[in-house]
Amino acid sequence: MTEHSTCHITLVPLGRTLTVPRGSNLGDAIHELGLEFPCGGKGTCGNCKVRVLAGHIALDPVHEAVLKRKKLDDEWRLACLSQVNDDITIEVAQFESIVLADETPFRFTPRNQCGIAVDLGSTTLVSQLLDMENGQVLAVQTALNPQAVYGADIMSRIGYAMQSPENAARLTSLIRQTVGAQVETLARQATRPIGRVRIVGNSVMHHLFCGLDVTPLSAYPFESPRNGMVHFGPADLGWNIDPNIDITFLPNIGSFVGSDILAGIYAAGMFSSEAPRVLVDLGTNGEIAVGNRKGIACASTAAGPAFEGSNISCGMRASTGAISSIEMEGGQQKIHVIGSGKAKGICGSGLIDAIYLGVTRGDIDEQGVILHDPKVLPLTDEVHLEQQDIREFQLAKAAVATGVELLLHDANLTHEGIDKMFIAGGFGNYINLDHATRLGLLEFTPAQIVKLSNSALIGAKMFLFQDDDFINGLLPFTHHISLESDPAFLDTFCQKILFTTR
Ligand code: FES
Repeated sequence: MTEHSTCHITLVPLGRTLTVPRGSNLGDAIHELGLEFPCGGKGTCGNCKVRVLAGHIALDPVHEAVLKRKKLDDEWRLACLSQVNDDITIEVAQFESIVLADETPFRFTPRNQCGIAVDLGSTTLVSQLLDMENGQVLAVQTALNPQAVYGADIMSRIGYAMQSPENAARLTSLIRQTVGAQVETLARQATRPIGRVRIVGNSVMHHLFCGLDVTPLSAYPFESPRNGMVHFGPADLGWNIDPNIDITFLPNIGSFVGSDILAGIYAAGMFSSEAPRVLVDLGTNGEIAVGNRKGIACASTAAGPAFEGSNISCGMRASTGAISSIEMEGGQQKIHVIGSGKAKGICGSGLIDAIYLGVTRGDIDEQGVILHDPKVLPLTDEVHLEQQDIREFQLAKAAVATGVELLLHDANLTHEGIDKMFIAGGFGNYINLDHATRLGLLEFTPAQIVKLSNSALIGAKMFLFQDDDFINGLLPFTHHISLESDPAFLDTFCQKILFTTR
């Protein structure tokens, strides 16, 4: 057993090694590789199971009992319940079965090929190499979107791109290079010839990747005439892969609602479900879809990047050092920090918990005002919330709740009439559903809510098996609604900005 203050985690078949502080939670350490935590890391679903090939992960009685209940023998551990105190080599089961991990039945016709699915997010990008003969994920690549240095949110990137053709070209080139590096790495690990690469992303990512003018997305009605599917050959992008591989950026639904949401809707089974469903994707922007197989209304909300920690004084992404949850235990605040070290900041899920506890303790009133001076809520020695942070959260929460309410109204539905509400987006993994529903961010019961993690990536993988006509044929079943032009928008927004603790 190692005596060092850090430990190495070697992942197979990815061939990657991570160095983490000794005592780190294994789930926290590997979640950025695209691992999904359907139960939010509570040790109940078993989906984060890893096989320990070398080294040792100790078991406590709770962990042991869960393994027994899941009928997993001694070589298995649940990442979310494991502490890293040794150099270990693990095999992540989910990387082998991630395509089928979604609850929605996913049938595919096997192909003697590999495919690459890319989820190009405003903040992060994830690419997966899929063996299309058996649906296995063979390798994963993740990276931060390098465009972020030119603005955290999509409106800032649009602004930057519109300043000059050189700026727009810089954003296009940066993202093509980064996705290209991922695709080239994955292509070297393919066990069969690669047939296609399918890329999904929001409308701004679509336009910037494809080298299209973003000006139509800068002003009302935020509609671009060039939302369609775009095909590339590797030479068009300067990618050093087999020249026969088809690279496709999938089509947008409309306005800011891109192919990431089209893929998410597909992954959530909304195109085939008779019962009405809701998809809420809380990323840098907030997108919402409501409907069933007969028709799906979609909208984007100006939720801003608060849920990803941007524009929050001590905010950060859900990575090592972020406060990801806060719970009360025996009258004491129990703070969970990703990586188990010192808190460096707070991410979206921690923000929800901190504000929920502030409201229930009476530190924050219904209007969102911090009721004592100075108007600061300390969380640790170095991490705190300021009044402006509460405002940012209120605006984001009101934007999402208003969007859901107006789309439900448009479809003649109520919250109670919804069969399942899927929450997608990275921070959905860690979110405390009870706190989120009580604060009025998601006005559904926890029983209605299903965490779908990266629905865009799941959908992109499913689209690898579908031809272009099938994907384009889904678009007429979707329509985009402009929330801001709805006469009820302002009243609803003002109502949703208040805090309730139902
Ligand atoms: S058991 Fe559900 S995420 Fe670990």
